[in-house]
Amino acid sequence: MKIFNASQVKEADTISIQKQNITSTELMERAATKAFQWIQNKFTNTETTFHVFCGQGNNGGDGLVIARLLKKEGYNVSATIVEGAGKPTDDFTINLDRLKSVGLEPTLNYAEAEKKQVIIDTIFGIGLTRSLNDEVKKVITYINNTKAVKIAIDVPSGLFLDRKTEIAVQSDYVLTFQVPKLALYLPGNYPYVKAIEVLDIGLDEACIAETETNYYLTDNQVASQIYKPLSPSAHKGTQGHAMIIGGSYGKMGAACLSAKAALKAGCGLVTAYIPKCGYTIMQTYLPEAMVLTDSDEHIQEIAFDLEPSSIGIGMGLGVEKETQRSIYDFFLMKPTKTVIDADAINILSKNKKWLELLPQQSILTPHPKELQRLIGEWDDDFDMLEKLKTFSKQNKVVIVAKNARTIVVDGDTVYVNSSGNAALATGGSGDVLTGILTGLLAQGYNNTEAAVLGVYLHGLTADIAIKEISAHTFTASSIIDYLSQAYKQIDK
Ligand code: ACO
Repeated sequence: MKIFNASQVKEADTISIQKQNITSTELMERAATKAFQWIQNKFTNTETTFHVFCGQGNNGGDGLVIARLLKKEGYNVSATIVEGAGKPTDDFTINLDRLKSVGLEPTLNYAEAEKKQVIIDTIFGIGLTRSLNDEVKKVITYINNTKAVKIAIDVPSGLFLDRKTEIAVQSDYVLTFQVPKLALYLPGNYPYVKAIEVLDIGLDEACIAETETNYYLTDNQVASQIYKPLSPSAHKGTQGHAMIIGGSYGKMGAACLSAKAALKAGCGLVTAYIPKCGYTIMQTYLPEAMVLTDSDEHIQEIAFDLEPSSIGIGMGLGVEKETQRSIYDFFLMKPTKTVIDADAINILSKNKKWLELLPQQSILTPHPKELQRLIGEWDDDFDMLEKLKTFSKQNKVVIVAKNARTIVVDGDTVYVNSSGNAALATGGSGDVLTGILTGLLAQGYNNTEAAVLGVYLHGLTADIAIKEISAHTFTASSIIDYLSQAYKQIDK
């Protein structure tokens, strides 16, 4: 799904109004009705109490429509007009009159809100362009201090779409219109965005299709489009040979999880190249794997002679001097497409000159600390994205920046992942991801496809799992166990 910036959304609104021969008031009514219907489905008990905070721009207009529809449906609803939040637009004024005509007069006071179960936030939407004044900050702080469920319409008020946010409504739900907005998914904005619903408000499809963007949200549809079903004539030779290079004394689990995940991702063969101390562990844990140890061969010979289709390297490897040397030798051999994880990233960060040796079609999978070692500090999420794009272009690699919402960067193109939940915050989760990506690369997906699809599948396992088991009991092995169900969901 495409992600738009504020001007692209406004353009889509305007073109839709023209092409569908409707007024902006009608579009506002349509958008707000969609939000109202979502709220009505969520809070079926008409005794639920609501307070709507409205700015005076069109986001505030949406709020006035929602207040009217709630009132007409018999809910207990009150509303506040927030002074200093935009100037009254025509559609705002029209809807203020309509709200009054159903017997609801919004006030400038908001003491009433404290007694309500649900707060609807429509102070600002995508029109926020400058810092908030103290009065509006005070209102937002007040909202955040209430115990009410908070629903933000389009975006939480105070959230900037193109720069760091200072203060915003800490919403439980964001009901965003038609297309996702990047800022909703950025790590720094987690306090303001718990859950996001994208509501289809019927904007012109051709306009959305023709609007160019470099930002995408990976959802089920995107993953399904990338996914290649197993051919009826497939055999182990057509499904690729993944090699996993990792593990050390006390950290064999990392290599074991990666190897199993690669296999479960669907590749035909897996070879694990591990230290001698891990031989029995790997053979016992994963009988399907072929196992070579560092006493048999040298890392570079393995990578070269066996001609694997893909390699995953770094999980539990350590950063000993000898290991660093082996990594250097490995890259010198110009191996096949490689997923570079954990200690292999740390070694590259210590030896940045080696970046020019990265194999073509490679993927780097840093978590935030590894990313910082690799690209240096960043000011805010927007700065981080720019640094990621530069790094990706300079080194011709795809980066999987792991976080609560993982971001895949391929040059100037950014894919924000929509699947996954906090259950994934468990040791070994990253090792499994590397295994999945290596398994996908082995099957012939290119590095962008493998990264986007693999990250989505990885997150989806946790989304499926928490419907069946407690998030507390979810482990890295659970990701592998639920991979089958995740594949089934995208196999459409
Ligand atoms: N302090 C005070 N005022 C500010 C600040 C600030 N810190 N920052 C920005 N503002 C002002 C802006 O200048 C803007 O006023 P302006 O447009 O006169 O310059 C005003 O606050 C409004 O802000 P928003 O309500 O956030 O933005 P906008 O009026 O553009 O509405 C919209 C957003 C269009 C409703 C969007 O959320 C959306 O697409 N909704 C779905 C469809 C819809 O309802 N459309 C409305 C009708 S169609 C149309 O508008 C073309």
